[in-house]
Amino acid sequence: MPEVILPRTFAMIKPDIISSGREEEVLNGFNIAAQKKIHLTIDEAKSFYKEHEGKPFYETLTSWISSCSPIIALILEKEDAVQAWRQAIGPTNSIKAKEEAPDSIRAMFGTDGSLNAVHGSDSLESAEREINFFFSTPNGSQPHILVTQDDI
Ligand code: TYD
Ligand code: MG
Repeated sequence: MPEVILPRTFAMIKPDIISSGREEEVLNGFNIAAQKKIHLTIDEAKSFYKEHEGKPFYETLTSWISSCSPIIALILEKEDAVQAWRQAIGPTNSIKAKEEAPDSIRAMFGTDGSLNAVHGSDSLESAEREINFFFSTPNGSQPHILVTQDDI
């Protein structure tokens, strides 16, 4: 039997879920191809979110994501992974998610438009960039831009 290669996406479990200790609950139905628990530096957070540089929430977002607790970076596999994970997490703003998609992860675990529990790649191109950001190096599996890391 040929090996089935499932499509991949990148997910991040943000500090609000990590501090609640409920991070395991959100990954149902997705195969975890790789995961790392990492405390990002502010520069790493800014680099990861560089598409949002200059927007009013950029400083707060990158401070939060790098400050109070580690995050978990994941490569998730599933049929139509990018879209399936975006569907599972729900709208960006957790207040809107609670109204429009009450079963979504952001509805159940997030607070508002900033503290929204999880990240999901918005396209195949973003998924490849974000997976490479955390997991790819020229010669191994350790992230080259990350300063501290705890294996799970
Ligand atoms: P964005 O890429 O627009 O949303 P998504 O995470 O759904 O792809 O924004 C990135 C993150 O920035 C978002 O998850 C939370 C934060 N953010 C704010 O804090 N305020 C805002 O008004 C927006 C649009 C995003
Ligand atoms: Mg986005």
